[in-house]
Amino acid sequence: MKAGPSAIHVHIVLLGTAAGGGFPQWNCWCPTCRAARSAPHRAARRRQSSTAVSVDGERWFLLNASPDVREQVDCLPGPTPAGVRHVPVEGIVATDAELDHTLGIVLLREARHLQLFVTRAVRLILERDSRILPMTQAFARVDVHEMQLGQSIPLRYRSGESSGITIEPFQVPAGPPRFAREESPGHTVGLILMDEGSGGSCAYVPGCGELDQAMLDRIGETDLLLFDGTFWTDDELISLGIGDSRAREMDHQPISGADGSLSQLATLSRPRKVYTHINNTNPMLLEGSPQRSLVERAGIEVGSDGMSFSI
Ligand code: MLT
Ligand code: MN
Ligand code: ZN
Repeated sequence: MKAGPSAIHVHIVLLGTAAGGGFPQWNCWCPTCRAARSAPHRAARRRQSSTAVSVDGERWFLLNASPDVREQVDCLPGPTPAGVRHVPVEGIVATDAELDHTLGIVLLREARHLQLFVTRAVRLILERDSRILPMTQAFARVDVHEMQLGQSIPLRYRSGESSGITIEPFQVPAGPPRFAREESPGHTVGLILMDEGSGGSCAYVPGCGELDQAMLDRIGETDLLLFDGTFWTDDELISLGIGDSRAREMDHQPISGADGSLSQLATLSRPRKVYTHINNTNPMLLEGSPQRSLVERAGIEVGSDGMSFSI
């Protein structure tokens, strides 16, 4: 019997909750990376930023494809395939063209047939600047579906059949990747995912320079929010002596402080709120740290790899 609409739920799995570089980062010995190596029970390792969504628990769409995609695909739930080859990934939705979100596309080239859902701006960066798209297309058919800002489109399987999920990209304040030769609208977006069956929704915003009231209103109407948890403070890299850019200059609104994301997100009552894309330097990665307690007391969760949800 065909399942009725109310039986449809979107499964969402966090495949990687670290920012670019992962946690611990290979060349980093900051206090949190040290803890991840010496006391893993206090700071769980995390792969690079990626999330998977599925309606049937077998056919998955990746929200961003990280350089860790090979291990991440291996963690996808689903039945053991009967055939010799099996591609559980139907398509990739990219929120930007940064390397941590798109290097995984080329690593999936053995798929033979992939789909990519991107804005025109992201498509152009992948074509002309990183060349990840033509490189992948030398090995596999990649059907590119352009998303328009503010318009929702169905996520279709490679067969053309609708999955029952729609996605709508919305612009977030951020700069383009540093290797992009031009800046055009839509180079960095957040996504609203909607389950057409249940009406449940999820906002996926792994990179955001600033939350404004319009965005807060929008994400406040969803059931699940996966939000940019990159940096705890604006001067995090500077005070550790490992960088000279502030979080905001890197287009990530810090979590703490009067103008941080924590105090703004704490005002939202409807969605379940989870931080993801967490940089390896962020002290909230440490279980039992004062920063972790502050986040949890505000009713927000610190994402970890393997966390799953249904909407
Ligand atoms: C970011 O999230 O700001 C980018 O992924 C930066 C990077 O890849 O280095
Ligand atoms: Mn990133
Ligand atoms: Zn580190």
